[in-house]
Amino acid sequence: MHAIHQYQEFFITYLENQKINKEPKNLYEPIDYILSLGGKRMRPVLTLLAAEIFDTDYKKALPAAMAVEVFHNFSLVHDDIMDDAPLRRGKETVHEKWNINTGILSGDAMLILAYQYFEQYEPAVFRDLAKLFSKTALEVCEGQQWDVDFETRKDVTIPEYLKMIEYKTAVLVAAAMKMGAIIANTSVENANLIYDFGLHLGLAFQLQDDYLDAFGDPETFGKQVGGDIIENKKTYLYLKALDFSSAEEKEQLIELFSIPSDDSAAKIVQAKTVFNTTGASEATQKAIEQYTFKAFETLDKMNIAEDKKTILKSFGENLMGRKV
Ligand code: IPE
Ligand code: IPE
Ligand code: MG
Ligand code: MG
Ligand code: MG
Repeated sequence: MHAIHQYQEFFITYLENQKINKEPKNLYEPIDYILSLGGKRMRPVLTLLAAEIFDTDYKKALPAAMAVEVFHNFSLVHDDIMDDAPLRRGKETVHEKWNINTGILSGDAMLILAYQYFEQYEPAVFRDLAKLFSKTALEVCEGQQWDVDFETRKDVTIPEYLKMIEYKTAVLVAAAMKMGAIIANTSVENANLIYDFGLHLGLAFQLQDDYLDAFGDPETFGKQVGGDIIENKKTYLYLKALDFSSAEEKEQLIELFSIPSDDSAAKIVQAKTVFNTTGASEATQKAIEQYTFKAFETLDKMNIAEDKKTILKSFGENLMGRKV
């Protein structure tokens, strides 16, 4: 086993050795740009980590880790178009730097590139990886559509929200880990348990993403703070604030979140104040912890050594403390 920062380094070295920047420039440069912008590299690290948790050299998992990261970056390029986001990892988004059409096509190419990385595996492993990947990618699309649909709905429920974030975010974190398990050829039970671990970690991760979108530090967050408020996203913060409001406050909040693309500072301040005064912020923090602890519970059932469980737990704990 290695330390998390080492898996990050192994992955970045592998990524830097990929020859992505070909002709036509306007197709491949944006791909190179977004992949080089950095980011936490959480998903590929989890793929490498999972392979080693189940006693297989991380090197075998590098192409799958790359597939997951390329897919993730593809989803960000299209997500930024859909969310009208100006900033990604502290830099201009692809559609801002180039244009929307470039974002669409470079994104499409990335989805295909991601699949190609599975070709490096033997047929049985290839089949299992591709099958999991296709299922996951389709679920991400479903989650993304719900996310957009919810922008213009006034009656979104917490269970609907939870389903939406499970699909748009958690399934990919889960699949990233299960891919490591597939490559390691571990038991079906272990593979499903690590998927479950990743799923709960992914739910906590998206809850925290929502929290940071409102309360992150603009200097370090790397995305436009308040972007979800501008776009009327029905996040956990918003839904809990509604939950904890009086009938009159509720009406005001629903009204505030039905003005399309209002990027006024006043709207952002008002929404954040309500999130805090109603106790929605605190409830979100609590939910992040609960889902992280739920992830830890799946480890109790997993047939691996205790020191490996400790590594997975500390990964989850560190994630809770993140600021980006
Ligand atoms: C952003 O993912 C999209 C979500 C699912 C919340 P990350 O926060 O992992 O983004 P990077 O890759 O580290 O920039
Ligand atoms: C991202 O959700 C989900 C996917 C990209 C599939 P968000 O829209 O919350 O992600 P950020 O905040 O832009 O990174
Ligand atoms: Mg977004
Ligand atoms: Mg989005
Ligand atoms: Mg977000």
